[in-house]
Amino acid sequence: MGFDEELRGRTEYCNRVLERFLPEEKGYPRTVIEAMNYSVRAGGKRLRPMLTAETSAMYGSRPALAEPFMAALEMIHSYSLVHDDLPEMDNDEYRRGKKTTHAVYGQGMAVLAGDGLLNYAYETAMKSFAEAQSAEETERVVRALQLLAAGAGIFGMVGGQCCDLDSEKKRIDGDTLLYIHRNKTAAMIRSGFQIGAILAGAPEIDIRGLGEIADDIGIAFQIRDDILDVEGDPEELGKTLGKDAEEAKATYVSIFGMEKAKEDAERMTEEALRRFDALSARNPFLRELIVSLAGRTH
Ligand code: IPE
Ligand code: IPE
Ligand code: MG
Ligand code: MG
Ligand code: MG
Repeated sequence: MGFDEELRGRTEYCNRVLERFLPEEKGYPRTVIEAMNYSVRAGGKRLRPMLTAETSAMYGSRPALAEPFMAALEMIHSYSLVHDDLPEMDNDEYRRGKKTTHAVYGQGMAVLAGDGLLNYAYETAMKSFAEAQSAEETERVVRALQLLAAGAGIFGMVGGQCCDLDSEKKRIDGDTLLYIHRNKTAAMIRSGFQIGAILAGAPEIDIRGLGEIADDIGIAFQIRDDILDVEGDPEELGKTLGKDAEEAKATYVSIFGMEKAKEDAERMTEEALRRFDALSARNPFLRELIVSLAGRTH
């Protein structure tokens, strides 16, 4: 089986897991649940849950323990996109090839859909406790929950988004830009990498190593996103191009230029692969996934 086919299979697996955990559209909150499910079902690469599934398998865990966390990660990621697209943030009308949530359901309902997804993510992740078969596994679930919250919170994704907004229309330095990329994007990718390994009881040195790998890959992933906003294909991306320039965003391309953006993303990916090969376990699919992210077109 080639990489593309394997990737399709893995993406379908993530979608099946997500479907099992999405809330039923019924009762008085029906509208907000519809808006939540619209955002999640719109598609996407499912990268963060895929990373958790892969590191969980890499260190030999049962999938049942990781699956609630897979769904939770994608719910939090989808919420971050719903809020990111709001007129007061990036003001985007297309996402994942469809109208953004606020364009379909209105801004108020989009705010609530994000709130709903964030909270339902934790309700979902906590279902992992019922799958734990020992006190040790219960402890791992607790640690994974702490990591999930930290990656999404003020010292993670929300912190990065705050600095991103504060930096609009400003000339910021390279360290500030790295802070933005490390937090708004790499933090949740780090949660994806580490949660699966923690649930599987991976050695501490590997959990730390995966954190460093995630940092490089996550920053390179956002650099690639900044590049694609300039020279991507809108059809393939499912987003409107040129929005960063329009909103005067501080991006890797606007601060360092296109050439350095490409060079640095490549260098970070190579560094991540070197570290990946030094881990105590192997996962050839995950390695190929890391390589493919460097040249992604969507
Ligand atoms: C988009 O994330 C926002 C960034 C962090 C760059 P993805 O590129 O993972 O978006 P989807 O989930 O595939 O739509
Ligand atoms: C978003 O970064 C990162 C999030 C945490 C949502 P961008 O604002 O660059 O992502 P896109 O380009 O809208 O997907
Ligand atoms: Mg943004
Ligand atoms: Mg945006
Ligand atoms: Mg972007």
